[in-house]
Amino acid sequence: MRQPPSEETTDRLRVRNLLGAQAGESLAVDVRRGLTAEPKRLFPKYFYDALGSQLFDAICLLPEYYLTRAENEIFASHAREIVEAAAAAGSKVTLFELGSGSATKTRLIVEALLERQSSLLYVPVDISTEALEQGSLALLQSFLPLRVEAFASDYNSAIPRLAEHFEEGSRAFVLFLGSNIGNFDPAGARDLLLSLRRVLRAGDALLVGADLKKEPAALDAAYDDPLGVTAAFNLNLLGRINRELGGDFDLRAFRHVGRYDEREGRVEMYVESRRAQTVRIAALDLEVNFAEGERVHTEYSHKYDLEELSGLAARTGFRLARTWFDEGRRFSSNLLVAEDK
Ligand code: AVJ
Repeated sequence: MRQPPSEETTDRLRVRNLLGAQAGESLAVDVRRGLTAEPKRLFPKYFYDALGSQLFDAICLLPEYYLTRAENEIFASHAREIVEAAAAAGSKVTLFELGSGSATKTRLIVEALLERQSSLLYVPVDISTEALEQGSLALLQSFLPLRVEAFASDYNSAIPRLAEHFEEGSRAFVLFLGSNIGNFDPAGARDLLLSLRRVLRAGDALLVGADLKKEPAALDAAYDDPLGVTAAFNLNLLGRINRELGGDFDLRAFRHVGRYDEREGRVEMYVESRRAQTVRIAALDLEVNFAEGERVHTEYSHKYDLEELSGLAARTGFRLARTWFDEGRRFSSNLLVAEDK
């Protein structure tokens, strides 16, 4: 069993919940909208209840899901350089992270920062309160000079509040890792970076982890693994609707679809109805009909090339200062520096 955190550790942690009392309500509203829309859709942010967050951690251990390992490899080889580039002019750094999850890769960045400065404030943002707390506690137990001010929140509510933790003479360094940006389509990615640019000061840095375009077979394997962990992660969305909204989805009556569309440059995930069926969702007083083979869209995972990344930076008030790759050139870590407005 996990050691209960000592008081000394929890003293250095504050978690603020911006999900609010309406958290359950927003799931209900989005599920009603999404399942009465044509075509049907659900948002990927709802994957991450306690079970979904753990299933995602299991995905990261799969041999086929190379993304996490590739990004870790980049940090293991280059964390010092990355941190030096982010903290140009030797200024002190405050570390932020969007979608921190279990914050396993963050460890290498924290370590490199603490070689340059004697203390560090870390401000993680995550939709999963469980992952946020466990990830923060694990870091606090390893690093005594660390303080954590966490936001349990989606990106949109948290971004304007990051500035509460800017310190005079300190640079903000924002991590947006693991191909989290892939969930956004090009317009959505632009809007997110623009909203980040609005709160950041010129010279502040943003590290974007982006998965690269590659041969379809590697991507198909990464998003439809033979163990069925990604299938479980995807179908858990229906399980969550059963648990939290009184749905009666028979998870065995749906199948996981995860395929790379090379033309669109993105992996598309769906849950597909194996037969014609009607599902009831008690809390919504809703009945939903599915045709045989009908799909519910659950996630996009957009893949990038270098031109797209530098274009994205340029259009959102950043400069792409440097890109690092893993040995196999499957994944990229991109340091963006906020330009003068
Ligand atoms: C957490 C959004 C980066 O798109 O690769 C993994 C989620 N979905 N397998 C990704 C995911 C299916 C993951 N992100």
